[in-house]
Amino acid sequence: MYILVLPLLLLGLWLLAIFIQGLRNPLSHVPGPWYSKWTSMVLMYHWLRGRRASYVNCLHETHGKVVRISPSEVDFASISGAKRVHAFVRPFPKARMYDTFRSANGAVNVFGTRDVDVHARHRRLLSSAISEASLKNVEHIVHQRAELAVEKIGLETKQGGAADVMKWWLYFSTDVIGELTFGDSFRMLEQGKVRTISIYWNTLWPSSGMSLIHRKNQYVHDLQNLAQRVRIRIAFPNIIKLASYIPLPLFTEAYASVQRMGSYAEQSIHRYENIIAAQPNNPKPTLFTKLFNVNEETMPKANIVANAQAYITAGSDTTAHTLTYLVWAVCREPSIRARLAKEVADLPDRYQDEDLKALPFLNQVIQETLRLYAAAPAHLPREVPPAGSEIDGYWMPGGTDVQTQAYSMHRDPIVYPAPEQFNPSRWEAPSKDMKDAWMPFGGGARVCIGLHLALMELRIATTKLFRMHPNARVSTLRGFCDDDMEQVIYFLMYPKNKRCLIQAS
Ligand code: HEM
Repeated sequence: MYILVLPLLLLGLWLLAIFIQGLRNPLSHVPGPWYSKWTSMVLMYHWLRGRRASYVNCLHETHGKVVRISPSEVDFASISGAKRVHAFVRPFPKARMYDTFRSANGAVNVFGTRDVDVHARHRRLLSSAISEASLKNVEHIVHQRAELAVEKIGLETKQGGAADVMKWWLYFSTDVIGELTFGDSFRMLEQGKVRTISIYWNTLWPSSGMSLIHRKNQYVHDLQNLAQRVRIRIAFPNIIKLASYIPLPLFTEAYASVQRMGSYAEQSIHRYENIIAAQPNNPKPTLFTKLFNVNEETMPKANIVANAQAYITAGSDTTAHTLTYLVWAVCREPSIRARLAKEVADLPDRYQDEDLKALPFLNQVIQETLRLYAAAPAHLPREVPPAGSEIDGYWMPGGTDVQTQAYSMHRDPIVYPAPEQFNPSRWEAPSKDMKDAWMPFGGGARVCIGLHLALMELRIATTKLFRMHPNARVSTLRGFCDDDMEQVIYFLMYPKNKRCLIQAS
């Protein structure tokens, strides 16, 4: 009996300390559920279930545009708040969460770095190769890969009655970004399937003796499971750090997949470096070619590898999932499909991306898909600098995690009436608020560096699919239904059952 007194006393003191801490929480004045002053457990629970974004959205519906979601985090769903959180000039640094996006070799990359000056330098060195103007040089690669993807979708429909477009778009986007980053496509479209290989916790490539083709397949397999692994990395960053020493399967696999992806990036960049050394005057251009030119300002090779890895991970699932939802949403609405198919059918045979930029309905469809089915709709947290800052009339002390989520910005019923409805025509004459609230690519100084590439891929692939298959429709084979397409959101979003069956005819 007496044995219990001391532990109970300590527990009581501990709870009292937490209670007092909550009452003195510097974010107490911010609206939010009562428990968010004391704990982030509820938020974590929804995160682990892939429902954090919709939970935070519900909090906005109850508490308004500014919500305290945990003792140290505040989410903003207003345009003014988003502009402050994601500023171009004197931007807030990314929050601690981004340390989990560090690449396998430990070197910083443009996506994960939290240092504002380091970021500005990386961004300056990387930007010109991936600008709208420079991408004209690689447009033919996107055309070739999209053509093959659409052919494969047609073939799979002929053979099995329906094609899983999610799979083909992942192969498409992975092949494109692989070729543009490493100078060598993964050729996933040609192979048409990913061989899954069981990996033990300590099986890393350098010692595995896997062939190149196995490594590529493992790479794509790792990419396909990226979203769930990111969930674990963000939720338990400290355990992941120990995962190389302690064999806990869930954590070690999350750790090992990053190591494998880093190892593949390292070898591929090394191979490309050898190609440049062999043909210094005429190497196959990639998004990194300029950085190997000794006469120009460059970055250390470890950072080139880290950025290559960031491009591959940021540039494959995102584009593939957007295309998947686009095709599904269009095929469900015969009038939308017919209007889109007619617009792309009227193009000249040798059309270019420049022609596609001028097609009104195609671009409205893309904008609406990126609104309702944003591929990265979750929170994008930033850390308030030590001096603190006022946002939307609330004082945010230094160190607070302030964030926005496209999921909420894109569902404001005042800005987008009937927000859950897929209605491309709402973009015919968009209001200023519609344009300002639309942020599928993030915003400010950290806006997506690959957005022009992504938009080019979306325009070209959509055009090719609906020119070749103007009557494509959603399949009901193998029990496929709307439930399969329920959005699961960790950092990235994907359809619940990771498939999307379409009859391409
Ligand atoms: C539809 C496709 C895409 C979507 C929806 C998307 C979305 C986003 C979002 C929301 C961010 C901001 C992340 C943050 O603030 O934490 C971002 C950043 C980034 N994206 Fe994309 N992205 C797409 C395609 C691509 C592609 C094709 C690439 C290939 C290069 C890419 C590379 C990056 C990189 C490197 C960053 C970090 C930029 C920086 O911090 O300066 N993305 N993307």
